[in-house]
Amino acid sequence: MSGTLLYEVRRVRGRDEMEAALELRHEVFCVEQRVPQHEELDGRDPEGIHLVAIADGELVGTCRVLMVGTTAQFSRLAVRASARRRGIATALLEAADAETHAAGGKRLVLHAQTYAQELYEQAGYRTRGRVFREAGIEHIAMEKHL
Ligand SMILES: CC(C)(COP(=O)(O)OP(=O)(O)OC[C@H]1O[C@@H](n2cnc3c(N)ncnc32)[C@H](O)[C@@H]1OP(=O)(O)O)[C@@H](O)C(=O)NCCC(=O)NCCS
Repeated sequence: MSGTLLYEVRRVRGRDEMEAALELRHEVFCVEQRVPQHEELDGRDPEGIHLVAIADGELVGTCRVLMVGTTAQFSRLAVRASARRRGIATALLEAADAETHAAGGKRLVLHAQTYAQELYEQAGYRTRGRVFREAGIEHIAMEKHL
């Protein structure tokens, strides 16, 4: 992919698309980042809202929102390597805000990989607490109030 990338961000539709989202997560987290599969698949996918980014009919990004009371737990943000730095993660974060708002949520929380902290700061998140290791990767807790 090169040049301008047109994409649509929305909720996942149907079983095939959900499988494509899980494949992308596997590729990005388990293959690229070596996260153990049992941590990537934590059993909470059925209760989550799954958002996807579609470009040219291909699934190029995904994330998950879990509502726990008025707090949204945001996770599993993955963008296909060939589609990065074109604003897709930022668009998924915006869609997660809209989903949270629509569900009556008041804030979003997440564990950011520290290398991606700026992505979340630009989307209005602030850090809380100190750096810790999760799945062998440095993380920091962040939150955003709507
Ligand atoms: C992190 C990730 C989701 C970012 O997706 P993306 O679509 O490329 O992000 P965006 O294009 O919306 O980036 C917006 C801004 O965030 C920051 N950012 C994004 N990726 C970054 C990186 N690898 N290093 C430093 N800053 C980064 C930049 O400020 C960027 O703006 P710029 O491109 O104008 O410099 C993607 O790199 C990815 O899937 N990585 C592997 C999985 C992962 O780490 N997920 C996040 C878990 S916390």
